[in-house]
Amino acid sequence: MGLSIVILAAGQGTRMRSRLPKVMQPLAGRPLLRHVVDTAMSLAAGDVCIVYGHGGDRVKAAFAGDGLRWALQAEQYGTGHAAQQAMPGTPDGNRVLILFGDVPLLRPQTLEALIAETGVDEMSVLTVDLADPTGYGRILRSEGRVTGIVEQEDATEVERAISEINTGVMLCPAGRLKAWLAALESDNAQGEYYLTDVITMAAADGVIVNGIEAADEEEVMGINDKQQLAAAERALQARLADELMRDGVGFADPARVDIRGKLTCGADVFIDVNAVFEGDVTLGDGVRIESNNLIRDSVIGAGTVIHPNCHIEGSRTGADCELGPFARLRPGAELADKVKIGNFVEVKKSVIADGSKVNHLTYIGDTDIGTGVNVGAGTIVCNYDGVNKHRTVIGDEAFIGSGVNLVAPVEVGRSATIGAGSTITRSAPEGDLTLERSKQVTVKGWKRPVKQAGPGE
Ligand code: UD1
Ligand code: CA
Repeated sequence: MGLSIVILAAGQGTRMRSRLPKVMQPLAGRPLLRHVVDTAMSLAAGDVCIVYGHGGDRVKAAFAGDGLRWALQAEQYGTGHAAQQAMPGTPDGNRVLILFGDVPLLRPQTLEALIAETGVDEMSVLTVDLADPTGYGRILRSEGRVTGIVEQEDATEVERAISEINTGVMLCPAGRLKAWLAALESDNAQGEYYLTDVITMAAADGVIVNGIEAADEEEVMGINDKQQLAAAERALQARLADELMRDGVGFADPARVDIRGKLTCGADVFIDVNAVFEGDVTLGDGVRIESNNLIRDSVIGAGTVIHPNCHIEGSRTGADCELGPFARLRPGAELADKVKIGNFVEVKKSVIADGSKVNHLTYIGDTDIGTGVNVGAGTIVCNYDGVNKHRTVIGDEAFIGSGVNLVAPVEVGRSATIGAGSTITRSAPEGDLTLERSKQVTVKGWKRPVKQAGPGE
């Protein structure tokens, strides 16, 4: 039997108090809806439909290329009305799994189990028992079967005491769902068409409604406000750190790491506190990330150590490099093996070959550095003439003294030495010492100025 998945994502999410549509709010660096879509995709459904409305174009644009079906809910009249918008393209013979765009932590296994446990003519609702069920729809049961769901606003005092709640996940034969949705009414406290009312209709039609309890309440958490968003963030981060630890990654404190994207680690990686990983990051075997590092879309080679407080983006290091403290690698920094980038050094769009060192207070941009080069403290590559960027090439084994300006385009030959303080504007030949300094003079008998009494003093 075919499976259609309908994800309700049209609500504005007023309680977020944000201009960003709720389902676009970031969780672990990606929109809430992205998490739900990925889960849906992993279930191998032939048909995944997003009901969208608020912030429509923005939501649609973020998921272009995912092969999704889109159903517009121009005005938000409730979850039942939302589900109805997806029905026209849904084959009658399919089963429909309804997910909410604001319930992002659901695991595929939980949904697979729900599908497996539900007979083809039956209906299922995923429920969970909460110590504090406030705000959620309460599950009404009779002799074990679910007979209805009552929303917080419509619930009596007695119903509000029920701790089993509706997670929003529902599985139902499509043909029947279409009929029930068409018959919904909005005579309730919120004046909305409640999806939850189809349960009462199903029960009345003699359809078996299973209430399947989720094992983990974190997983089914609905995100309506910033507090819940922050709580979900911590829960998801703990889950991600847990998965990495199971693969052998060491954390000084798994509660103090943030993974906003995909972090792939080799064997014996150690991560100290307050590391933030964004986008796609790969850490090779034995990599050590010390405290307070931000690493985005980068590959760090085996055995490399990143000392505290580095900012690394769009870069790649080879094996056994050493970075920081306080180093910055900008996009296009490509380090080979055993390269050292020290404190207050910025590297951009540059290739640095094996064993070269740039240890202190330096800017390297649009540069090719050979092997075994030493770049002295305070050296600046002047790569920008105000209009265009130019390249600098530094040959193998060259030695650049401290405080040198290399005005690009310029080339330093292999094994050349550049004297400290030089401003190099023409290529320096290989092997030789090149200096560019004005003659040092001493003014004999020079006196420092003395402070003069001015007006008003
Ligand atoms: C809903 C359920 C409640 C359940 C809770 C679980 C109903 C009536 N209530 O309540 O039983 O316990 O979720 O988290 O179903 N949406 C639309 N169009 C609309 C309204 C909502 O697409 O017109 C979407 C929202 O974008 C959201 C989802 O449906 O992704 C849930 O809507 P929300 O308003 O958050 O429902 P709750 O009040 O949380
Ligand atoms: Ca909700």
